Amino acid sequence: MMNLQSQPRYGLHGTLNIPGDKSISHRALIIGALSHGTTHLEHFLQAEDCLSTLSALQALGVPITHEKETVTIHGQGLTGLTAPKHTLNMGNSGTTTRLLTGVLAGQTFTTTLIGDSSLSQRPMERVRHPLNQMGAHINLTAGHLPMTISGQNLRAITYQMPVASAQVKSAIILGALQAQGPSTIVELLPTRDHTERLLQIFGADIQIAQDKRTITIQPQPQLAAQDLIIPGDMSSAAFFITAASIVPNSHIKLTKINLNPTRTGLLSVLKRMGGNIHLTALGQMAGEPVGDIDVKAATLKPIQLTATDIPAIIDELPLVALLAASANGISKISGASELRVKETDRIACITSELQKLGINIKELPDGFLIDGRTAWSVRNQQLDSHKDHRIGMMLAIAALKIAAPLKLNHASAINISYPTFFQDLQELLTKETSS
Ligand code: S3P
Repeated sequence: MMNLQSQPRYGLHGTLNIPGDKSISHRALIIGALSHGTTHLEHFLQAEDCLSTLSALQALGVPITHEKETVTIHGQGLTGLTAPKHTLNMGNSGTTTRLLTGVLAGQTFTTTLIGDSSLSQRPMERVRHPLNQMGAHINLTAGHLPMTISGQNLRAITYQMPVASAQVKSAIILGALQAQGPSTIVELLPTRDHTERLLQIFGADIQIAQDKRTITIQPQPQLAAQDLIIPGDMSSAAFFITAASIVPNSHIKLTKINLNPTRTGLLSVLKRMGGNIHLTALGQMAGEPVGDIDVKAATLKPIQLTATDIPAIIDELPLVALLAASANGISKISGASELRVKETDRIACITSELQKLGINIKELPDGFLIDGRTAWSVRNQQLDSHKDHRIGMMLAIAALKIAAPLKLNHASAINISYPTFFQDLQELLTKETSS
């Protein structure tokens, strides 16, 4: 059990450089491994999920060295991976599992993927289905891991996505690179496009139609190694953006954050709620727009969110619940049933944990109803991350609104995406006056 920091006297203050983007760190490793030449990464996210991808690629015969945030990948080309000597452990990482499934679908060997108890309950049929249509042989265990992938020569595909998922889209793109002809993917709703952007930098021919939902992939590109600096992760910045918005007297600045529009849903939501945020554009890093974000505490209005809003805030919805619980009215979040198949059933976990703080939140099949006018009052001081990194960090932010001491069970889950979260939070709490 970890003691959480309670209500700070002076709010949050100061400037923070947020660790590298998790989604881009995974993809840069994978695409670097499939390229010719040596790729160097700076500001790589050293967190458990990305290290799962790194170890799996090493087991597939890719020499990778790693010194803090600097990574060197000796690419083996699209056909140069070698059969691993053992099953590959994906840990807690859905991104590692689904993206590598796309890569392994076209290789000349068989691989078995396993994961921890949470990952072993997450749906994998969504990735098996399109890749099997392309000719791969993929076997699941009742729709889940363990999964055995027997790579084959892949056929091109035209695929209409039944779910809005960047992981599934990326798996198909990575399979399509190895196919016999051009493939087309039509998304249900636009999702994060880091795979497409990175592949274009590495030399692939990927066309994105004006509707942002139709992607055409030309097969068999010669991917060429690159040197990249990975921008700060918007999904990690989101914890402090939320904290500074809801804790009185706060004023913080977060630097070099990825402002890709498929990831900045929280900023749009906060603006609609009356948040006090200011962006300064800084140009591009790793093919992504980046900028500084300045946030001050604000009086928030309630918000209504539906399915089309969800992909750009999918990982920030635990924080949207906190913002709604601090707003002066009733908010409704719907169309978010994907939250039930994340690291935990996040609809159930967010609801039960926030109810411990007296927050007026009701579970819907596909979201929440939250009345921010009800005063928060602690009913249970023992909070639990349920071993879900984003739930744990969201609860640490919620504790900043409460005077009573709170404890967090399974706090180490934060290592999945943000091992330095508590140090970074402390840094913003130690400065007493506004910058
Ligand atoms: C991710 C995509 C999202 C997101 C996850 C990371 C990615 O998952 O929730 O944390 O890097 O592609 P889905 O694509 O399954 O929605």
